[in-house]
Amino acid sequence: MKIVNTREMLEEAKKYGYAVPAVNVDQIDSTAAVLRVCERLRAPVIVQLSPVQTDSKGLTYKTLIQMIEAVGAEFAVNMAIHLDHGTEPEDVKRAIKSGFASVMYDGSNLSFHDNKRITGEIKEYCGEVPLEGELGVVGGQEGSQKRGTGDVLYTDVEEAVEYVRDSRVDFLAVAIGNAHGIYRQKPKLHFHVLEKLNAVLDIPMVLHGASGLSEADIKAGIQLGISKINFFTDVDKAFMEGIRRKMEESPSVYSFGCLSNGGKYIENQMERIIRMCGCEGRA
Ligand code: 13P
Ligand code: ZN
Repeated sequence: MKIVNTREMLEEAKKYGYAVPAVNVDQIDSTAAVLRVCERLRAPVIVQLSPVQTDSKGLTYKTLIQMIEAVGAEFAVNMAIHLDHGTEPEDVKRAIKSGFASVMYDGSNLSFHDNKRITGEIKEYCGEVPLEGELGVVGGQEGSQKRGTGDVLYTDVEEAVEYVRDSRVDFLAVAIGNAHGIYRQKPKLHFHVLEKLNAVLDIPMVLHGASGLSEADIKAGIQLGISKINFFTDVDKAFMEGIRRKMEESPSVYSFGCLSNGGKYIENQMERIIRMCGCEGRA
């Protein structure tokens, strides 16, 4: 395993026109399944954890980072570990103190000026640790907050220029019609917004809520400056499906048998994700 800085990882992706998948996994079996495919396809990967995933376990960030690194040590992969959707400045500070070498502060629930100001303060705190910020409202469930998928507010191009300039974030998560979780209607991404953002920003952009998007949408996003793509629901659903099938097949199965079957289902999903992101052979 080589731990890679997300800034270098995403700048490289932007330069060569592919995206790095950022996958939310928090179990040994799911993490190993993701990394196994990345090793086989020589694909770079970001393993990310959001506070909702970690806090429900009653364990510290540090323990989960150590778990991911220990699993990573078994594979020849280029990997980064990233905090996803830190919605409170305290989440981000706690994450950095615990060893996250890349973080997201999501102040998209705040007014533009508060989001910009707090993101800038967090950037100061981060020092060399790369910071992802978010502007606009991604639909669906975000971090611990719930919003309706209809409640979408696209990233404003002029605000984005000001936000990036003043807060000095390293990556920007954009809202272009993307939503977290399962899309209730056929997703419609507004590529003309992305095109304008790409013309005026020179930092890598991030697409959240990628589960359920078509390959054509993913590829079009990459063409227009998306360098990090977040997948949670599709990977988690695959894991759960593998577990459920195993339990139905053999009701007296032990947990390790279920979880390893979940991992097999993740492998298929991960292969599809890597191919859509065009990052095969890039690690
Ligand atoms: P999905 O669950 O819709 O894939 O979203 C993932 C995400 O954006 C994590 O931050
Ligand atoms: Zn997200």
